[in-house]
Order: sequence, then C-alpha cells, then structure tokens
Amino acid sequence: MRKLLIYALAMAALMAPSMSLAQSSRSTGVADDAIPGSPARGAAFAAKQCASCHAITSDGVSPRSDAPPFGEVAKKYADYRLDWELEAIASVGHYAMPAKAMTAIQIADVTAYLRTLYDKPRDDHRRR
Ligand code: HEC
Repeated sequence: MRKLLIYALAMAALMAPSMSLAQSSRSTGVADDAIPGSPARGAAFAAKQCASCHAITSDGVSPRSDAPPFGEVAKKYADYRLDWELEAIASVGHYAMPAKAMTAIQIADVTAYLRTLYDKPRDDHRRR
C-alpha cells in the first residue's frame, strides 16, 4: 500500500511538467505571448501613455499622422510576438517613435489589449 502511494506521487511529479507544457502551448490562433496580460489594464495604460500619438481603438485616426493606429499594429503583428516588439520599443523605441519605458506586466497588458483589436480570420474549420 505504502509502495503504491510512493509510486503514485512519483508519477504525479513526473507528469506535472508535461501538463504545464501542454497548457502553455495551447493554440490561441495568434502567436503565443509570454505572459497572459489584462486587456482592461492594457486599455487604461494605452489611453494614458500611447493615445497622444496613436489611435488606440481598432478604427480611430492617430493624433500623430506617422504613428500607426493600434488596429493596424494588431493586424501587422497577428502572427508575430507583439510582446517582443514592445520590449524592444520599451528600451530603444521604433524608428520615429521614442523609447517608452514599460514594465513586463505593462507589456503583457498592452499586448493583451492589442490582441482584442484584431480578429484574425481563421482558415480552418473552427470558425464560429
Ligand atoms: C510621442 C508619440 C508616441 C507615443 C507616446 C507612442 N508612440 Fe508608438 N509610435 C510612434 C510613431 C511615430 C511610430 C511609427 C514609428 C516608425 O515606425 O517610424 C510608432 C510605432 C509604434 C508601433 C509599431 C511598430 C511597428 O512595427 O510598426 C508600436 C507597436 C507602438 N508604436 C506602440 C506604442 C505603445 C504601446 C505606446 C504606449 C505605451 C506608444 N507606442 C506610444 C509614436 C508614439
């Protein structure tokens, strides 16, 4: 009986890492982002920190004409790691855009918010 319990615990320990791996590689239809952020917090952050230059809704016109509306950004990065792009922007900026300091959480939140702005068409049979 005791042996069985030890065996069961050992199996659980062995299976735990593969279970978390399965969860993190779930298919979201977009490139997977590192940390799941909060779209609501991301929207509030973008309104404060990005809206002076960018349109932060899916169809707005940017106050600064050379800053792409966030709807376009969301579409451009539908298949790419937007969080990595934002990490680069946080430290060095992006061409005409000055660096904009963001924490890892703020990056995750803005990424999650931007992901809500573009609904990638699916070419498989899971379309709802
Ligand atoms: C001072 C104005 C300004 C502010 C504030 C600003 N941006 Fe930008 N941003 C720009 C401009 C201008 C560009 C276009 C730069 C270029 O590609 O030449 C840009 C481009 C971008 C891009 C596109 C990169 C690409 O690959 O096309 C992203 C993403 C982005 N900004 C995110 C943000 C986020 C997130 C914030 C707020 C935290 C923010 N920006 C705040 C001016 C700004």
